[in-house]
Amino acid sequence: MKRRLFVKNVSSLGLAYTFVRNYTSSAVIRDSRIEVILDEPIATIQPEVYGHFAEHIGGVIYDGIWVGEQSKIPNVNGFRKDIIDHLLRIQPGSLRWPGGCFADSYNWKDGIGPMNTRPRRANFWINTPFLQKAPDGPSKYEPNHFGTDEFLKFCELIDTVPYLAANARTLPAQDLIDWVEYCNAPPGTTSYGDMRVANGRTDPYNVSLWGIGNESWGCGGDMIPEDYAEIFRRFTSFIPSFQTNLKLVAVGPSDGYNKRDLDWTRRLFTRLAEPSNSWTYIPDRIAGYSVHFYCGTAGESSINFTDDEWYQLLWQSDQMEKVITEHWDALGAFDLDRKIKLYVDEWGAWHKQKTEVHNTHLFGQTSTMRDALIAALSLDTFNRHADKVAVGNIAQLVNNLQSLFLTHEDRFAVTPNFHVFEMYKHHQNGQSVRVKFSAPVSSADKGLWGLNGSASLKGKTLYMTVVNPSLTEARETDIVIPGAKIQSVRTITFTEDDVRAHNNLKNPNAVKDPVEKIIESSNGQLTVQFPTASVNALILELE
Ligand code: AHR
Repeated sequence: MKRRLFVKNVSSLGLAYTFVRNYTSSAVIRDSRIEVILDEPIATIQPEVYGHFAEHIGGVIYDGIWVGEQSKIPNVNGFRKDIIDHLLRIQPGSLRWPGGCFADSYNWKDGIGPMNTRPRRANFWINTPFLQKAPDGPSKYEPNHFGTDEFLKFCELIDTVPYLAANARTLPAQDLIDWVEYCNAPPGTTSYGDMRVANGRTDPYNVSLWGIGNESWGCGGDMIPEDYAEIFRRFTSFIPSFQTNLKLVAVGPSDGYNKRDLDWTRRLFTRLAEPSNSWTYIPDRIAGYSVHFYCGTAGESSINFTDDEWYQLLWQSDQMEKVITEHWDALGAFDLDRKIKLYVDEWGAWHKQKTEVHNTHLFGQTSTMRDALIAALSLDTFNRHADKVAVGNIAQLVNNLQSLFLTHEDRFAVTPNFHVFEMYKHHQNGQSVRVKFSAPVSSADKGLWGLNGSASLKGKTLYMTVVNPSLTEARETDIVIPGAKIQSVRTITFTEDDVRAHNNLKNPNAVKDPVEKIIESSNGQLTVQFPTASVNALILELE
């Protein structure tokens, strides 16, 4: 008997129904295969990997997140309601703040207490030529209306793990100790803890993730690795823990698609590993090693690129895999027990400044399906390396580099990146398992694979995500799971006829939502078609 799959469209799932290009084309050749190897587990995918980044830069905080309680823009305690509602949909794993470069110029004491008494300061980014044309306002002059309590309350509203970056350039170690105390000291124990109580928050926030500086080789102090090693040793010699498991993060390199700064990693750890009279081996104090990877751009702008530049940029972003494996290998010489994990706490595309929705939005860019595929293939890479990567923060949440949202005043739009995070959220806390992809390559000259992705298991539910980068070929693919019987399959497909399609504030619904379907299998065999230029999710219930 011929094996058949019955497909029915599901409109009750709340996702828009659209006809997917090439989805049923008879011209598609069955040329691809995905094998999931359930008995080769890699590690649990940490929710913090599905994290975000919000710096005091351009339109990220003011206009993007914070509008103030008196604003006519719908808000919850001063935070934009549209942002909160959409963040709750994607279950953000972590949120890094206040920078970025801004962090190493920020005094956290400016941002606490009554708002009308908080000082105003020049923002770290004020000298950039882009902002010279912008009106005076918070992108240039920091009003400090969004400070520690606002950030930590926002994290609670969106149910995410806060990740603070401490100033290691212009402030001494004492300010980090005071900040930890303000956030984590129980009421009645220390003056900074009591200051927090006086500012309206009794319970400690119990912040666990603390970065010691940011990009210390550049905006964070122009240091050489040996200088930063000295700072890290001194800052971390003593920090009160207040019953919170502090996870300290050391500044790592900034990598490009064509360079890995392994010299920083090796020199930093060589110096950190040098013995002193300390009772700890210094690398043992490090929970996370921060890695930044911006894949850059290809083409005129984020929305104007050739087909060649489509493949070029996807290839560039795919170099994330080398960034992870090469630094991991280098770290292995100093961390034999592999306790230090990689925190890829800034990543994404960095297009030319042209498509920002407002002239205060420094680095603002409008994302297309190309960015969606970059987000998807990067998250898949983190999943495949779940044993190495414990935190990830796409840069940045709103109105900036590869953002999930665009906002200005009362207008709001999601970008294609948002849909990817919504599709991929189910991987959080799943057991990453090995997957083998075999498919004709998409662009031989760029060396980009034909299909790639990741899979994770939770009980008997297998969650698989797959990217097809080809602009011309859908992939008819056999899915093989040795030793398992497939009971039911749900698919979510995100694709667009026009890969340059994008939402903006004038046209917030230009990009079609992902489409969800249920596929019923009568005999456990599965063949799925992945449309051109698509991000796909498969939810498989196994017997
Ligand atoms: O995300 C924008 C900037 O890029 C950050 O402030 C900095 O850390 C990086 O260079």
